[in-house]
Amino acid sequence: MSWRKSTNLAWLRDLPGVRQGEPLATRTSFGIGGPAEFFAETARTESIEVVIEGCRLRGIPYLLLGAGTNLLISDAGVEGLVVRVVNRDFEVEGTRIRAGAGLKMMRLARIAADAGLRGFEFGIGVPGTVGGAVYQNAGCWGKELREVLVEVRGFQPGADRRTWSVEDLALGYRTSALRDGPLHGALVIDATIKLERGDGEEARRLMARLTSERNQTQPIKTKNCGSVFKNPPGDSAGRLIQAAGLKGARRGSARISTLHGNFIVNEGGATAADVAALIEHARAEVMGRFGVQLEREVELVGTWD
Ligand code: EPU
Repeated sequence: MSWRKSTNLAWLRDLPGVRQGEPLATRTSFGIGGPAEFFAETARTESIEVVIEGCRLRGIPYLLLGAGTNLLISDAGVEGLVVRVVNRDFEVEGTRIRAGAGLKMMRLARIAADAGLRGFEFGIGVPGTVGGAVYQNAGCWGKELREVLVEVRGFQPGADRRTWSVEDLALGYRTSALRDGPLHGALVIDATIKLERGDGEEARRLMARLTSERNQTQPIKTKNCGSVFKNPPGDSAGRLIQAAGLKGARRGSARISTLHGNFIVNEGGATAADVAALIEHARAEVMGRFGVQLEREVELVGTWD
């Protein structure tokens, strides 16, 4: 039976600060996607817990949104409730930092350097939030969040556990128990990382060098969703897409970047359908020419035909 009963709709309408039909395109780095049927945004994790527990009990679908840097939201938008998590608190204690799920990874990289800590410089190349980074074990320049992660506090509707170890999170290459396993639908409240004492100035210099390298190899000034595909074992999705002659390929205003084959850029007004068609085209071409199955890194959400 559909969740769309009058009592459920009334419950959603009565949530504090909730908005109906909220556009989501501006809340993603791609600048693409239809509206959220219901939308709420809060830094108070207690209220998010109450709301998602309420959704679970009523069978209402919900989506937890961070900075929207790894998402392709459908043109039709997202049914049910979208909750944007914006808690950005942080606390430095010795070589550990506890960071709120809504804090940007890039900001956390600067916080770590300012605290004279090293080992988190790679965070400067990760566009999303801490919560999103836990969700898919984000990484850059061969380093991943799991290498510095100690524990994560969160809330899973219907469960009592509040703290998850790195093992509980089953972090793999751009995957976790939150994205693809038993913790799906759980809220990340904050994450604790452990770093090493270092020299803040040195960390800042390294981050500046890495950023300039990234500027030259990735189309980061144009709207995009980061890497579209995961790298297949022992190879690179960007290299394969380039070798298939697909750089610059277009569907509407969506285009495979001429700079990096594993990026699709929104040149202005691209639709989710345009991007999805390009993704399928690239996948089919790479499979046809090289027999390699590309797996999506970007997550498709919302209602698709
Ligand atoms: N390459 C090409 N053609 C291209 C793109 C790349 O031949 O169009 C070649 C490069 O010359 C290089 C190899 O492919 O030899 C790898 O490329 P690159 O160093 O640009 O890194 P990547 O494997 O494409 C990964 C992460 C990025 C991260 C960079 C930098 C994945 C899927 N991507 O990209 O992460 O920023 O390394 O460390 O693991 C993301 O996850 O969203 C993301 C952007």
